[in-house]
Amino acid sequence: MAGSLAEFVVIANRLPVDRFIEPGGGTTWRTSPGGLVTALEPVMRRKGGAWIGWHGAPDEKLKPFDHDGVRLVPVPLSGQEVREYYEGFSNGTLWPLYHDVIAPPEFHREWWDSYVTVNRRFAEKAARVARRNATVWVQDYQLQLVPAMLRDLRPDLRIGFFLHIPFPPRELFSQLPWRRQILEGLMGADLVGFQLPGAAQNFVRLVRERVGHKTHRDTVYLPDGRTVLARSYPISIDAAGFEELARTDAVEARAKEIRQSLGDPKHVLLGIDRLDYTKGLRQRLRAFGELITEGSVDVDDAVFVQVATPSRERVDQYRLLRDDIDRLVGRINGDVGRIGQQPITYLHASYPREEMAALYRAADVMVVTPLRDGMNLVAKEYVACRYDDCGSLVLSEFAGAAAELRSAYRVNPYDINGVKTALLDAMRADDRETARRMKAMRKHVLEHDIDHWASAFIDELTASREKHGKRTRP
Ligand code: G6P
Repeated sequence: MAGSLAEFVVIANRLPVDRFIEPGGGTTWRTSPGGLVTALEPVMRRKGGAWIGWHGAPDEKLKPFDHDGVRLVPVPLSGQEVREYYEGFSNGTLWPLYHDVIAPPEFHREWWDSYVTVNRRFAEKAARVARRNATVWVQDYQLQLVPAMLRDLRPDLRIGFFLHIPFPPRELFSQLPWRRQILEGLMGADLVGFQLPGAAQNFVRLVRERVGHKTHRDTVYLPDGRTVLARSYPISIDAAGFEELARTDAVEARAKEIRQSLGDPKHVLLGIDRLDYTKGLRQRLRAFGELITEGSVDVDDAVFVQVATPSRERVDQYRLLRDDIDRLVGRINGDVGRIGQQPITYLHASYPREEMAALYRAADVMVVTPLRDGMNLVAKEYVACRYDDCGSLVLSEFAGAAAELRSAYRVNPYDINGVKTALLDAMRADDRETARRMKAMRKHVLEHDIDHWASAFIDELTASREKHGKRTRP
């Protein structure tokens, strides 16, 4: 397959594989955990697909290679580009700006220049890999200029874009010195997908007000007669896959073992997040600490397990956060812990899917309290694993998932007293109430899984281009 042109191309900042060095020194690639690749693999195999992305290391050029029937096309980044395009503009400018400026975004012209250069490299790679009239699906905020760059190079392509993170209201977006270029970059796509309807509306409104194009509802009308659709497609998980894993004896045994090592408390509360300032870790740990200090929860009865996956460790804000959380956990455990009884078990590590499933199975209350989150798949994974209809979900109203998981205990994460009340409600709920809530959430997640998401987007992309686009027939 390597060498032939692809009918379906995915472009994402990262390739969907992780590299492992074998004891003998050889290299193997393993599919990364994460739903996107699982969902797209069947389409990719069927259509002779290619995935273009960075392989995660600086200053290294790799040749395209095949992995599990999918052609992977690595894009090289220099050390400087990793600093300026990835850590800088993507994660020091766009990430905080798009997440409600929870951390202050930094605006640096050299970061922007690098973002343009790297986006062009991705677009050029796709232009060389895609067959005539192929479908190309660009993913996420790191690559917002790619749709327009690619359309310039290859007007025959059908181009979709999906933003996995929130798209901010115009009051925040307008801070960006390069706001117009980003909007124009996105408008290179035939279909721009967002997690929530509000984000799509933010985009359409900004295009109307900042660029001056005509719009009607979810459609932008460009002067050349082309149209761009902006719609929401809430992303999901491989729900059946998670449930199947959760039902295995190995996971069930591990879940039991986890509870035992925690001292078999009445309540196990769980948080699993990338260590990111958008996740509301501080607020949730403080809320739990206060419940113990003031005696609403007995330290012998409840344990909070917080898994924080290392992330973007060279970005300043992430370093500061790590120190902050280390201190907070130390303080709470120091203040309210006893010998052999630490109220918070804090793990700064990443775990395979099996261990995550066991943690979900072991937890009575899943605590997901981001200050802002595009979707939050952990919330959906928890629900998928609770086939016994036990377990409660405390969920921030600022996570995209809150629009769908309406039977969760909903919280404003900034309101610490409100979080405390929700934690208590979740811990004290009777089995009937817990099952009622979980059943409703499970129905939704199992019916709206990642396949549903991917086919909804791809079907619309196909239809929209057929209806409105000017495709060049071969
Ligand atoms: C979020 C983003 C993804 C990103 C992931 C991990 O989910 O939407 O695009 O890949 O975080 O972050 P990283 O910077 O390690 O790729």
